[in-house]
Amino acid sequence: MMRVLMVCLGNICRSPMAEGILLKKIAGTGLSIEVDSAGTGNYHVGEHPDPRAIATARRFGVDISMLVARQFVYSDFIKFDRIFVMDQSNYTNVVQLARTADDRKKVELFLTLDPTLRLTEVPDPWFGHADGFIDVFQMLDQASDAFLKQIHS
Ligand code: 4NP
Repeated sequence: MMRVLMVCLGNICRSPMAEGILLKKIAGTGLSIEVDSAGTGNYHVGEHPDPRAIATARRFGVDISMLVARQFVYSDFIKFDRIFVMDQSNYTNVVQLARTADDRKKVELFLTLDPTLRLTEVPDPWFGHADGFIDVFQMLDQASDAFLKQIHS
């Protein structure tokens, strides 16, 4: 069983979308991968994803409406094998909590899995307009494909 954690700031936009996308791609493949998501901040703990994230994911056939935000905790380093962060700020915040070199090695910028993507950071769609969520969804979809390709090779 491989365990993967998606991390952003609020755990209501980017990382729940990433979680839902990867879960959908895994479903029915027989792959033994557990996926979860968390935020470095605690502002939205206990909330469902942002309505714009839910609506965008639904448009592409991914249901994230049942997900509930939680904050990243140290024990996530113990539980998860791969920790994918959405931007550099998330990277800094997560690595600050690491205690060992092994912890730190688990943390990667999610978009770097697909070098054909022009960005290494997923823009924060929270303050932007609704279109931003579609771009974010597509980046996360590509990086999720790259992840599955990577673990198959
Ligand atoms: P996320 O987006 O990190 O993709 O979930 C954000 C959600 C909320 C806030 C910032 C980013 N906030 O400042 O409350």
